[in-house]
Amino acid sequence: MTEKNLPLSDNELMQLASRVGTPFHIYDGNAIRGNAREMLDAFSWSDGFINYFAVKALPNANILRILASEGFGADCSSLPELLLAEEAGIPGERIMFSSNDTPDDEFEKALEMGAIINLDDMTHIADVMALNGNRMPKAISFRYNPGPDRTGNAIIGNPVEAKYGVRKDQLMACFRIARDNGAERFMLHTMVASNELNEDYIVETARMLFALVHEIRNETGIAIEQVDLGGGIGIPYRAEDDRISFRSLSERIRDLYATMIEAKGLAPLRISFECGRCITGPFGWLISRVWHVAHKYTDFVGLDASMADLMRPAMYGAYHHITVLGKEDLPKDHLYDVTGSLCENNDKFAIDRQLPIIERGDLLAIHDTGAHGHAMGFNYNGKLRHAEYLIDGDGICMIRRAETYEDYVRTQLAQPERI
Ligand SMILES: Cc1ncc(COP(=O)(O)O)c(C=O)c1O
Repeated sequence: MTEKNLPLSDNELMQLASRVGTPFHIYDGNAIRGNAREMLDAFSWSDGFINYFAVKALPNANILRILASEGFGADCSSLPELLLAEEAGIPGERIMFSSNDTPDDEFEKALEMGAIINLDDMTHIADVMALNGNRMPKAISFRYNPGPDRTGNAIIGNPVEAKYGVRKDQLMACFRIARDNGAERFMLHTMVASNELNEDYIVETARMLFALVHEIRNETGIAIEQVDLGGGIGIPYRAEDDRISFRSLSERIRDLYATMIEAKGLAPLRISFECGRCITGPFGWLISRVWHVAHKYTDFVGLDASMADLMRPAMYGAYHHITVLGKEDLPKDHLYDVTGSLCENNDKFAIDRQLPIIERGDLLAIHDTGAHGHAMGFNYNGKLRHAEYLIDGDGICMIRRAETYEDYVRTQLAQPERI
């Protein structure tokens, strides 16, 4: 079981909502810091351990700065994410550039910054070399896709069908080609599951990579310097789920490290992750006001937020816990669909949810929106993206203002321009 807490009291959130307007996302920076420390502390046995925070989860330089100050790096998947990490002051050597189907200008920026480039495919080797004076960068990483050896899951897909990463036979060739063309530091990466709450699965990923480090050494003579277990550690979106304990996960990986790496003379081997969700996810909330309670064939609660603020329920049928502010002590004896205002019937935050009686004007807190929440927003139906607030120390600051109509039309030309 995981308690579904709010970052402030119901009254404080109601006052904040009246002051700044709804909807908005709010993040608990103090809890995010504490969580980052907990992860680093749990893995402190592993020399140089790093979590490259997946920028895509919460792409805001204010958050990246907090995480960088705690010792995290950044995992970037595009040019704008590289620029954001740069703006947050994260140096290249603490950036993992894990992209796929990558355009040249993105590789160029990653090379210029000295980021670790994590190649998703063999064909990318030639692209990077062409941009780097016909040589491989000194440090290079390859993303491994185990294919039928692992199962994957709903978000990331079955590895055999997933577009990410190289096959094992390709992997050996990739490392050889990289070495023969100037690479001197070699890293191995994988990401086979997303939002995974089964600790065993992540331990199996470590086992798979450790075995591969051995195989690569045997087959190619190459010593792998770092294994990156990717992101994908899940969070308990449902109160009845348990979170993954960094400490317990770390201890099990440590045991494997002792037998599969140290005992085989493959140490030192740095361990890294690129987790986003489990770092910030539980520490974000979408606060939204009820516009309408409509009784049709189903009872609907219509919010001033929409799937443009939080797409996960519509996209994956994902569950997000909902609290009705000030009404938690009332019986949850009403069955509602909680909807947004977009002209899409799947714009629903919850379907058949037992909640206390809801009236127009009530405030709802949708939990666990601190990762892949605001970040997945969009402007369809002219929905403007809303503000983000951060609780840091004992103050609250705005870290992104709400979009305006002017933002919405900024890239549209007032008059057609002949080309
Ligand atoms: C390559 C890669 N790394 C890291 C992540 C972050 O995953 P999560 O936020 O679930 O930890 C993702 C998510 O899609 C990813 O594709």
